[in-house]
Amino acid sequence: MIISASTDYRKAAKAKLPPFLFHYIDGGSYGEHTLRKNTDDLADIALKQRVLNNMSELNLGTELFGEKLSLPLILAPVGLTGMYARRGEVQAAKAADKKGIPFTMSTVSVCPIEEVTPAIDRPMWFQLYVLKDRGFMKNALERAKAAGVKTLVFTVDMPVPGARYRDMHSGMSGPNAPFRRMLQAMKHPLWAFDVGLFGRPHDLGNISTYRGSPTKLEDYIGWLGANFDPSISWKDLEWIRDFWDGPMIIKGILDPEDAKDAVKFGADGVIVSNHGGRQLDGVLSSAKALPMIADAVKGDIKILVDSGIRTGLDVARMLALGADCTMLGRSYIYALAAQGQAGVENLIDLYEKELRVAMTLTGAKKISELSNDSLVKLS
Ligand code: FNR
Ligand code: LAC
Repeated sequence: MIISASTDYRKAAKAKLPPFLFHYIDGGSYGEHTLRKNTDDLADIALKQRVLNNMSELNLGTELFGEKLSLPLILAPVGLTGMYARRGEVQAAKAADKKGIPFTMSTVSVCPIEEVTPAIDRPMWFQLYVLKDRGFMKNALERAKAAGVKTLVFTVDMPVPGARYRDMHSGMSGPNAPFRRMLQAMKHPLWAFDVGLFGRPHDLGNISTYRGSPTKLEDYIGWLGANFDPSISWKDLEWIRDFWDGPMIIKGILDPEDAKDAVKFGADGVIVSNHGGRQLDGVLSSAKALPMIADAVKGDIKILVDSGIRTGLDVARMLALGADCTMLGRSYIYALAAQGQAGVENLIDLYEKELRVAMTLTGAKKISELSNDSLVKLS
């Protein structure tokens, strides 16, 4: 068991949320092996302690695509965030904005693009999924552009959703799901009032805005399966690259050959990710995949990474393994569910403190000094 703010917030989120939502966030696919490996493999990476280097002046800031970040940290896209806290995308975006890091909105967010961007100063990032309805994709890109989004995250590891058996057990999907969810909401009154009653409308805001009618959430998992497009290939991405003026990052890269193809394609960045262990169970953890990808493309393209990061020490480990920046998924979602915007702000502060200690004791005065030399090779 890792002791961290993430685990404390996870506990608090578990108490507050109806089980169908908690398990949707917390779970992975199939036997959840990759989900566990993501945190276990990362915890096994040994940082190299170095002392007496006068570490009184540290710089934790970084720059990505011309954008200044106070920390090498970004909030990853997470679907249905507005179901975990009242208008959750707005709260998370405000927390990130206040702390000087980007918030990435998911395609399948509850709040639409237009509800979030006026609430923050720095441009948010937008994540796009490959839906069968290409009209929606074009509409979403146009609206994101109009709302001032510069950075596009294009997620490619979900041509089909991985089977999440926890969702069948919890009432997120499966027999009598709507009835079971209603019973669970009644047993979680804090959530029922805050989000269930006062956090409406509950729908997929971006898709509803496009269609002009509500996209209800009765069968969200079924909706994902029916609307995502398994026919996608590199060719389909060309019109997006041509249409989009800003940086384009490909999310869901786990193999060096795919990373090289992303460079060839002209992407500005890749996100090394197994979707937090939610897609193909049995694939490598991000901590294991990252060094091979860094070997293949470091310097040719920006390398971001997510999956399994729970502390500022994990951020240091990922940077030492070759990443330029890191992304948080569940870690910030637990904090948001437990305490809203204030919880996410506190979590980011804790990451900052943890990273500061990690840098001080590995002798890295700035982010770029976290490298392979900051690690002890054990085998
Ligand atoms: C996700 N993730 C995700 N990714 C994406 O590109 N679009 C999305 O809509 C979602 N939705 C989503 C929902 C939930 C509940 C979770 C937990 C995750 C994946 C996410 O961006 C990120 O890759 C992982 O969460 C990283 O792993 P950790 O940090 O959660 O271990
Ligand atoms: C998930 C999708 C929505 O992981 O990305 O549930």
